[in-house]
Amino acid sequence: MTGIMHSYDTFQPTHYDIFIDINRGTKQISGKSVIDGEATQKDIFIQQKNMEIKSVTADGVSVDFQVDNEKEAINITLPKAGKTTLAIEYKAPLTDSMMGIYPSYYEVDGVKKEIIGTQFETTFARQAFPSVDEPEAKAKFDLAIKFDEQEGETVLSNMPEVKTENGVHYFDTTVRMSTYLIAFAFGDLQSKITTTKSGVKVGVFATKAHKANELDFALDIAKRAIEFYEDFYQTPYPLPHSWQLALPDFSAGAMENWGLVTYREAYLTLDPDNTSLDTKQLVATVITHELAHQWFGDLVTMKWWDDLWLNESFANMMEYVSVDAIEPDWKIWEMFQTSDVPAALQRDATDGVQSVHVNVEDPAEIDALFDSAIVYAKGARMLVMMRALVGDKALRKGLKNYFKAHQYNNAKGNDLWNAVGDAAGMDVASIMNTWLEQPGYPVVNAKVVDGKLTLTQQQFFIGAGKDVGRQWKIPLNSNYEVAPTIMGDKELVLGDYTKLRKESGKPFRVNVGNNSHFIVKYDDTLLQDILDNQSDLDAISQLQLLQDLRLLAEGKQISYASIVPLLPKFADSHSNVVNATLYRVANDLKKFVTPDSDEEKQLQKLFDQLSSKEVARLGWTKKSDESNDDQLTRPYVVNAALYAKNPKAILAAHELFEGNSSDLSAISADVRPLVLRNEVKNFGNEALFDNLLDEYRKSSDASYKQDLCTALTATPDPKLIAKLISKFEDAQTIKPQDLRAWYRGVLANDEGQSAAWDWIRNDWQWLDDTVGGDMEFTTYITVTAMVFHTPNRLAEFKEFFEPKLNTPGMTREISMDIKIVETRVALIEDEKDAVNAAVLQIVK
Ligand code: BES
Ligand code: ZN
Repeated sequence: MTGIMHSYDTFQPTHYDIFIDINRGTKQISGKSVIDGEATQKDIFIQQKNMEIKSVTADGVSVDFQVDNEKEAINITLPKAGKTTLAIEYKAPLTDSMMGIYPSYYEVDGVKKEIIGTQFETTFARQAFPSVDEPEAKAKFDLAIKFDEQEGETVLSNMPEVKTENGVHYFDTTVRMSTYLIAFAFGDLQSKITTTKSGVKVGVFATKAHKANELDFALDIAKRAIEFYEDFYQTPYPLPHSWQLALPDFSAGAMENWGLVTYREAYLTLDPDNTSLDTKQLVATVITHELAHQWFGDLVTMKWWDDLWLNESFANMMEYVSVDAIEPDWKIWEMFQTSDVPAALQRDATDGVQSVHVNVEDPAEIDALFDSAIVYAKGARMLVMMRALVGDKALRKGLKNYFKAHQYNNAKGNDLWNAVGDAAGMDVASIMNTWLEQPGYPVVNAKVVDGKLTLTQQQFFIGAGKDVGRQWKIPLNSNYEVAPTIMGDKELVLGDYTKLRKESGKPFRVNVGNNSHFIVKYDDTLLQDILDNQSDLDAISQLQLLQDLRLLAEGKQISYASIVPLLPKFADSHSNVVNATLYRVANDLKKFVTPDSDEEKQLQKLFDQLSSKEVARLGWTKKSDESNDDQLTRPYVVNAALYAKNPKAILAAHELFEGNSSDLSAISADVRPLVLRNEVKNFGNEALFDNLLDEYRKSSDASYKQDLCTALTATPDPKLIAKLISKFEDAQTIKPQDLRAWYRGVLANDEGQSAAWDWIRNDWQWLDDTVGGDMEFTTYITVTAMVFHTPNRLAEFKEFFEPKLNTPGMTREISMDIKIVETRVALIEDEKDAVNAAVLQIVK
């Protein structure tokens, strides 16, 4: 590409005076943006989208301008370069797409209401005010908002309000910041407010559809998280307040606007008396993620979107570091091991995946960068690996210097590596860049060759992959001292195996702690040695063993059938991470059986065998003094018993339903989705279905709503499935932000799959109009690919998506997903018989 790509190269703003007048009735905004800055040349451009530009002046004099909608820009010709004050008057529509300035819809006691809020990341500030809408263009902002105000409404922004005059709300001047972090909102809100030790006001805001105590959990976590970060980063929180606001319509999960963080309701408000521990943990990590960004992302921002990982990977690691510090009993790193780690290992093994650092220019491609398994999960794991390498002392020292050097400014990846590397006295950059710049990860082969313990590294693929000889600098974390800290070479000979084994007295292992981003393939001798000493393995090591074997089987490096006999060895574990992984592997076996076949019956027997002891121990109801592990394990094992069609389990769930029929939301939240689903599947009828759908419409408890979605989408009745699908496009029942979960639910239901698949193919244009341009759009393709596993579906999938391959922002997703389904179909074809025979062998 030629010519200047970035607006910032032509005009560097220092200060904005922004006035926005919002009319909820006409859904129109009109405004004025006054921007002081420095023009590097006479021909400049700044950004706008969907605006009607009324006038442009430079230093008070009208100037020539052209609106270029394709470039999302206004091209302006100035009389001269140099210091200039631009003033732009404009009109624009309020959007209805959860981007820019948009309404959120909700009901209180049957009365329909709206809150207006904003979402500007990645490139939507330009829909609210003309601006140099690029992360590098940091400036100070004076914001003034006017709207058709009703009494009692609350108005929020990044900074406190300083005055209201003639119905205009004026906010204090911001610190130097990027446009994508500007936010404001207004509506009929409730709040809870507290103050940190250092005097920062912390608040939680939500609509009045929520009970007041639903704000308490978030307030407590937010306050303690800010206190933690001030200490960990050794850098004060730089603003007077930190507001957390739940918006009823929200496209992403949450957004780190500086001082005014916005959330999906599901990720902020919760019933403190009946919410499962894992949901509480998830909400806590979302809050701590966004608050980590207040420094990493907001105070220091990536220079350009290619370094997005600098924001997201880091926040993703810090969410766990902070929750671990403020709630140590949760052992939150276990959640990292059961969610982020497998997600990263799975996706990063498909050829064609992006690297964590990706070059990008086109706005349509910027949103496509947010691959959660890579930029979030792999990126975080890469940083966890670095943290393990340098230690917290050096990491904190490095971060302090990094913040000091770049605060209120921008940085690139190497600035972080250098700061941490200097503090640690280590060449961090050269190690980390092998993980950052290359897609994929290695499998380390550990084997005894001619009596010598030998390690080799090679890129690991699930499905066809082109080996181009990539090599990584691998932190080995071996339990044998002879192994070096870093393995950079392709092959490493450690020495005489018999001697080493004798000296150490324990089986040889690498990646102890599972903090490095690679998997291990032990040869038969080494693997047997580990299995023979299974009782010495801690929970994470057991998880790792099962997980690595599952991946090796997916990658066809070992036979899938060879894992089956190992499963019972893990079934009596009381550890939630072992159970999470055990049932992940067990659930993955479902793809090898056809519904209602003899093979499925055998698999169900296996599930019954695996779960029976733990179901008997834990039961369906929470005991007052039970451990976190028991609480978190229960859903896995009772779910397995239900899949097994264990009559006692079906009855126990039914009884819980009956016992709570006057208030279904009161069923203990950890088993609630399973109880409701069991009822719909095994005792369902249209009346029950309508009743649950009605509950869904009325409830403001997001976690209960999710459970209802889980239950309703599992109905085996074709008539009810058709009824559900007819609600997909009815925003009064299912909000567009929640639709994907409904679609996925019906698609994963054997009786509903065809109907859901027909719906998405027929109404693709509607979906594009409703959530297109939103980064969630492509994930409808991802979830479809996660479900499909037959040759017919593969052919249909290709037929439908291949013609869309050239759509900007979708190319990578479609081509990867085709490969993912192809690989799965081939795997099933090749291994089905052996897997089912292995299951038959161990069922009693
Ligand atoms: N900055 C993102 C939100 C975002 C992503 C906005 C992409 C626009 C485009 C935010 O910090 C984030 O990462 N949110 C996550 C939730 C988080 C807890 C992992 C999300 O929205 O999924
Ligand atoms: Zn984030």
